[in-house]
Amino acid sequence: MKFYIFLLFVATGLGSVNSQTYPCGVNYAPYNFDNEPVTLGLSAGEYEPGKKAYLGLSSWNQMTLDAGRIQISPPGILMPTNGITSSLITSGSVWYLKPKSNQTFSWVSSKNAETVTNAVDFGTQTSGTPSYFGSVINNGTVYVGIVSLYMGGLFYVDSNGYLGFATSYNVLICQSTVAENPVAPPNISTSASNVDTGCINNWVPYNNDKEPETKGVSADKYDCGNNAYVGKANPDVGPWRPGRIQTTGQAGLYLLNKGREIYVQNGSYYLANNPNYTYNWVVFDGNLPSNAVYVRSNVGALAFPITKIKINGDTRIGFQLGDQAAIPTDTGYGSYFQYFQILTCDPIPRYKCAVPQFKKYNLDNAPSNDGFSAGKLNGVNAYIGRSVKKCTSNCDYNIGRIQTSPSSAAGVYFADEFSSNQMFDNVTAEYLVRNVNNTYIWQSSTSGLKVKNAIEFSQTGSHPYYIGISVIDHNVFIGKVLPGKGLFYIDSNGSKTFTITYSVLTCYSSDSSNGV
Ligand SMILES: *[C@@H]1O[C@H](CO)[C@@H](O)[C@H](O)[C@H]1NC(C)=O
Ligand SMILES: *[C@@H]1O[C@H](CO)[C@@H](O)[C@H](O)[C@H]1NC(C)=O
Ligand SMILES: *[C@@H]1O[C@H](CO)[C@@H](O)[C@H](O)[C@H]1NC(C)=O
Ligand SMILES: *[C@@H]1O[C@H](CO)[C@@H](O)[C@H](O)[C@H]1NC(C)=O
Ligand SMILES: *[C@@H]1O[C@H](CO)[C@@H](O)[C@H](O)[C@H]1NC(C)=O
Ligand SMILES: *[C@@H]1O[C@H](CO)[C@@H](O)[C@H](O)[C@H]1NC(C)=O
Ligand SMILES: *[C@@H]1O[C@H](CO)[C@@H](O)[C@H](O)[C@H]1NC(C)=O
Ligand SMILES: *[C@@H]1O[C@H](CO)[C@@H](O)[C@H](O)[C@H]1NC(C)=O
Repeated sequence: MKFYIFLLFVATGLGSVNSQTYPCGVNYAPYNFDNEPVTLGLSAGEYEPGKKAYLGLSSWNQMTLDAGRIQISPPGILMPTNGITSSLITSGSVWYLKPKSNQTFSWVSSKNAETVTNAVDFGTQTSGTPSYFGSVINNGTVYVGIVSLYMGGLFYVDSNGYLGFATSYNVLICQSTVAENPVAPPNISTSASNVDTGCINNWVPYNNDKEPETKGVSADKYDCGNNAYVGKANPDVGPWRPGRIQTTGQAGLYLLNKGREIYVQNGSYYLANNPNYTYNWVVFDGNLPSNAVYVRSNVGALAFPITKIKINGDTRIGFQLGDQAAIPTDTGYGSYFQYFQILTCDPIPRYKCAVPQFKKYNLDNAPSNDGFSAGKLNGVNAYIGRSVKKCTSNCDYNIGRIQTSPSSAAGVYFADEFSSNQMFDNVTAEYLVRNVNNTYIWQSSTSGLKVKNAIEFSQTGSHPYYIGISVIDHNVFIGKVLPGKGLFYIDSNGSKTFTITYSVLTCYSSDSSNGV
């Protein structure tokens, strides 16, 4: 009897050694839009009779690592791409799930974004919250997608190509017979980490005080004339998201969390202004601006563009999802909006430049060293210059194009107020000096309107004129902008020409002594 029990014990012990399982270090391989997933990938079933769905990952707007259906014919990965509808992604970075020999995959039913033991998780290491492969099967057809524990369920592409959402679904789990190191999911595009071109945004811990009023990026009024500021937080260890900081009343951050606006008292940050940058709110026109400002999580795999709208005159801040923005409303619940603004940043200082410097031009004094080339005319560099001698009591310096070669024709070419033909000066010509500490931008304008931070010049000091440019067929035509009128320049036939549509040279400095 004892012997028998002993045998039983040994058998059980052996059995448990053999069935010992470990979490998988799941393997993702680049998908090259070929047949490889058929032999090496993991199928979730058929999405059409005879057509198998393989599990894959790609990024959505280069922001979020998302699960979708890899298909072979036509090859691509099908996933929601704008928050409402779907796209078959047929190029770029896509990975397919490639099982290893000791791994066993299976589907377990789950619901309501519950945590699932041994679920294949491609989210935690990148965004801080788990993301699973999920599926639902209707009438023999499989739909695969992402179970986002933060969003509360399975997102998939339905049979009409729209975003489907399910709170009851299956989750992919994996167990291995050997201990495997956890493998980080693939990084999405390397460009994702520097989508905020140029600006290194400075997020400062917020202590619910008045500091953002002097140092923060404003988002306009939120109520009663009080300013809202841009902030971020990650309550519930979810991904970092943008929100609205208020510095009066119940000071803190107000942020959209699981469909509601919540108050975040601890651990928020505000976005600090930087005199070397220019932050702007621009109307979303269907395309995400390349200079959008993001709130990022961990390694940049999850990033939310900062958006705002006005509701009954009050600013509310949320984030962009596809072609819509998720933003808290007056009732405290979140809603989706199609008309909104997006925060952008340019590494442009925002103060005025000092009075521009001109230097005498002759053949020994090359503007190619420190002058301002505005582009080319007929393949020859066009520098910004002026002629001093033409002035009489009713005029001012003339602005035109300096040509440096051939030497016989070197000098400044310009339109004169009193002549219809091209004028030339190689005696009193001067060229505009480019200050390396300044940022110059051609700003489009019309009809002689005043342009912020335009470079002004004036002999008398009372009537400022501006430097204008008209670009036609890659040739640049430089001239003088008369306030209230427009640009006068010499056209390709050597005739004085007038246009109300042109660009003005503006200048920005990080030196505040000349004002904003
Ligand atoms: C699977 O496990 C066995 C031992 O259990 C090992 O010899 C083999 O190399 C493993 N295969 C892989 C692909 O890890
Ligand atoms: C299920 O599939 C069968 C065969 O394709 C079809 O006849 C039936 O209408 C489908 N049912 C539903 C509810 O879509
Ligand atoms: C992803 O990027 C992070 C940060 O740059 C890096 O530490 C990690 O090794 C990368 N992972 C992979 C799989 O390339
Ligand atoms: C927030 O901070 C306050 C003051 O430091 C502290 O009393 C409170 O417990 C914190 N709340 C949370 C949720 O951490
Ligand atoms: C702005 O630019 C200047 C000059 O490059 C630099 O010294 C300064 O630190 C910058 N200011 C900030 C806040 O980054
Ligand atoms: C100025 O231009 C004239 C031709 O218009 C030329 O004869 C003269 O040599 C030039 N002078 C200088 C200093 O380049
Ligand atoms: C540009 O800034 C540097 C550092 O402030 C200064 O040394 C230099 O003189 C400036 N250059 C010009 C042309 O103003
Ligand atoms: C220049 O003259 C030619 C021939 O008369 C004419 O076809 C062309 O339109 C003119 N260009 C401009 C910019 O006026």
